[in-house]
Amino acid sequence: MGLRQAALGVLLTGAFTLPAGAADLEAGKSLAATVCAACHGANGISVSDKIPNLAGQKGKYLVSQLKAFKSGKRKNAMMNAIAGQAGKDDIANVAAFFASLPGPAQGSAKSKPLDKLVSSRMQFPADFKAGFTHYTTINFAKRKQVRKYYANMAALQAAKNGNPLPEGSVLFVEVFKAKLDAAKKPVKGADGFYVAEKLAAYTAMERRAGWGQDFPDILRNGDWHYAVFKADKSLKPNVNQATCLACHKPLADDSYVFSLKPLQAAARN
Ligand code: HEC
Ligand code: HEC
Repeated sequence: MGLRQAALGVLLTGAFTLPAGAADLEAGKSLAATVCAACHGANGISVSDKIPNLAGQKGKYLVSQLKAFKSGKRKNAMMNAIAGQAGKDDIANVAAFFASLPGPAQGSAKSKPLDKLVSSRMQFPADFKAGFTHYTTINFAKRKQVRKYYANMAALQAAKNGNPLPEGSVLFVEVFKAKLDAAKKPVKGADGFYVAEKLAAYTAMERRAGWGQDFPDILRNGDWHYAVFKADKSLKPNVNQATCLACHKPLADDSYVFSLKPLQAAARN
């Protein structure tokens, strides 16, 4: 049984019979290594300044926070999706595991994200944007950005018929810095959208048979992979797909796509 299966087995069946109250450190370690490590590090020292360390944290605190994420009382899109899939035993075990680790030394180096999760299989599509259809635009006031959303034919056809987005679907987002006025406010065009000034990057997702097997089930989004491309179309390295996967995970019924409704509406027109 591989680690991934082990972690899944624990999640789905709670397949460990232990006296009430006793945590299973090995099961906790396996869940930590396959899933939590992607962001918090296998040693409980996180991969980014935006993600807390868990090593040496109090077990009861970890349990209470995981329960709060699971119930939605504490809000964070990624942790709500992850804790939402964890059973009572998973929470007890993984909390006991991180609590058992030595606390981080002052100034500890960040952990590296998991290779499998930073390696996107996506390539910049040769047919962007001729082979793609623009389906929606969104202003992002806080970030002073305007983003334009595109779908390829496979995605568009399925959306038109109300079907799940199939293998071969590619969604692409152009992220633009908005043109700013003298007061540094985004300038709006006649269509109500910010005037795009400079292409900053592309965010993207693509679905191909078997690709999802690269990821643990708690994070897996069917067969989608995610990527960020720089304005020069090169793949941005070291993007942690765990963050993309965790946030998009709750949208399983919508092919993991937030903008499915506007896509369907545009496809029907
Ligand atoms: C996709 C990245 C990601 C993964 C994977 C992930 N976490 Fe988190 N976790 C976060 C982020 C981001 C936060 C900070 C949330 C916030 O700001 O409230 C967090 C916060 C937490 C906290 C609260 C810590 C504190 O100091 O209050 C706990 C506990 C936690 N995660 C446990 C886990 C466990 C256990 C797993 C594996 C089952 C896991 N996380 C997997 C990103 C992740
Ligand atoms: C905090 C949650 C969150 C995270 C993390 C996240 N996304 Fe999204 N994503 C969204 C939301 C919400 C939308 C809908 C519109 C928007 O905000 O752009 C979206 C939209 C998209 C779309 C357009 C298709 C769709 O689902 O509507 C793509 C492509 C995309 N995200 C790629 C990525 C990539 C690549 C990453 C990781 C680098 C990522 N996302 C991380 C929340 C998230």
